[in-house]
Amino acid sequence: MQYVIGVDLGTSATKTILVDEEGSVRASAVYAYPMHEPKNGWAEQDPADWKKAVLTTIRQVVDESGADAGQIRGIGLSGQMHGSVLLDEAGEPLGRTILWCDQRSSAQAEKMLTLLPMDRWLSVTANPPLAAWTAAKLLWIRENEPDKYARMRHLLLPKDYIRYVLTGVYATDVSDATGMQMLDVRNRCWSEEVLEALDIDPSILGTLYESQEVTGTLLPEIAAQCGLSPETVVVAGGSDNACAGVGSGIVREGQALVSLGTSAVVYSHFDHYVEIPEGGLHVCCCAVPGRWHSMGGPQSAGLSVNWFKDGFCGDLVRDADEKGTSFFDELTEEMEKLPIGSERLIYLPFLMGERTPHMDPLYRGALLGLSSVHTQAHVMRAIMEGVVFCLADCNDLLKDQGIEVTSLRVTGGGSRSPLYRRMLADLFRCDIHTLGREGGADYGAAILAGVGAGLWPSVYDACDRFIREKDSTEWDPEEAEKYSAYHAVYDRMYRSLKEDFSALAALE
Ligand code: XUL
Repeated sequence: MQYVIGVDLGTSATKTILVDEEGSVRASAVYAYPMHEPKNGWAEQDPADWKKAVLTTIRQVVDESGADAGQIRGIGLSGQMHGSVLLDEAGEPLGRTILWCDQRSSAQAEKMLTLLPMDRWLSVTANPPLAAWTAAKLLWIRENEPDKYARMRHLLLPKDYIRYVLTGVYATDVSDATGMQMLDVRNRCWSEEVLEALDIDPSILGTLYESQEVTGTLLPEIAAQCGLSPETVVVAGGSDNACAGVGSGIVREGQALVSLGTSAVVYSHFDHYVEIPEGGLHVCCCAVPGRWHSMGGPQSAGLSVNWFKDGFCGDLVRDADEKGTSFFDELTEEMEKLPIGSERLIYLPFLMGERTPHMDPLYRGALLGLSSVHTQAHVMRAIMEGVVFCLADCNDLLKDQGIEVTSLRVTGGGSRSPLYRRMLADLFRCDIHTLGREGGADYGAAILAGVGAGLWPSVYDACDRFIREKDSTEWDPEEAEKYSAYHAVYDRMYRSLKEDFSALAALE
């Protein structure tokens, strides 16, 4: 038997799985780490935490599986997008990484529009300048931390830093590189035009690969530490969204996925390059060679759920722990008893600003309609409804592109909640399908590793063989109507608060 490993370097944790040549998951491990928020709208992580998480979980899955080192043929890497890992001459990280959800570089994103006009950004990088993407973060560092910028020799994305740790190679893949906003997305190469406009030295960027291509083999000391062979290949891998696409079998036109993780995304595959004129949805290279995908959704999905759980539900979490039950299951019982609309409570899920469907780094969260009847269950339900309203708005943008989603797969931690799935089905007005253990970005990374290592002939072949729908949630037209009424208020609220959020951001 031969095996591959898929690693997903997420925002809340690293998830690592070991998959056999029949596509079955044989071992899995999770390692959580903190996100630091030194200011409102800022988010950072320590690359040393990622390194420890990845090396520990790889060793755990190898030990748990009992596989021999020589049988484990490849590793695929998936990762949270956009984070700017700066390395010095010796390959050491220059401090913490500014994360995807950090909004400190909004002025730099605006400045990017003075360096190249909007139509060039859209037609070369397929997206408008975005504060959350890597280029704006780099400009922020250049302006605010010039010493750090001067010492930088390499700029990597989070999962590509892990590749460097594993193999000593500076490389990236086209799906994740899209989120750096320096890629010519149509032609899948670094854009000289953008790099010149931003005055960025191309030598700091990694070598580009398609996601299934081999980028190197394990350094001997790392192989020994993880219980692996130095001949184990590491493939390019992809962004967490692109890997979730592959891991859920979304590899053909007309297929779509919602992933409910720290951020939530509605993801659609395209065989051809698409340009979305006003932005609103992101367009990226996908992890299938020569193909693309669109995506959009709230940045703060699971982030909102965890923010509320950690900050305001301590008593319920303790009760559940004492009873040996799950906090979320207990709260769900209460949420299920509530009517659609959480008894007239609406949540805007913009704790860290927003990019899609409306780009504004100054947006923040809001709860409209709070009354003294509302409990923790009402607020949590309103949070989930708000996340799904935002996803439904992104789905409407897909419809504007002529893409009608008639059947949708769902993945990510939130997809385990039947209540969340019913909300999605009713708001998207289509049936929702969950997957088995497959579906996650870790599984997509493992598929890419298997294709790169020669276990399977192509991503299509592996997806067709291994990925099966598990259960379905049908949409209910009556419930959908009720959600629509609340959705309309949410959309108005979203627009009418725009100026207030700007005014708030200008205050001390
Ligand atoms: C997408 C994005 C998030 C992260 C989450 O643009 O920033 O989905 O990739 O990990």
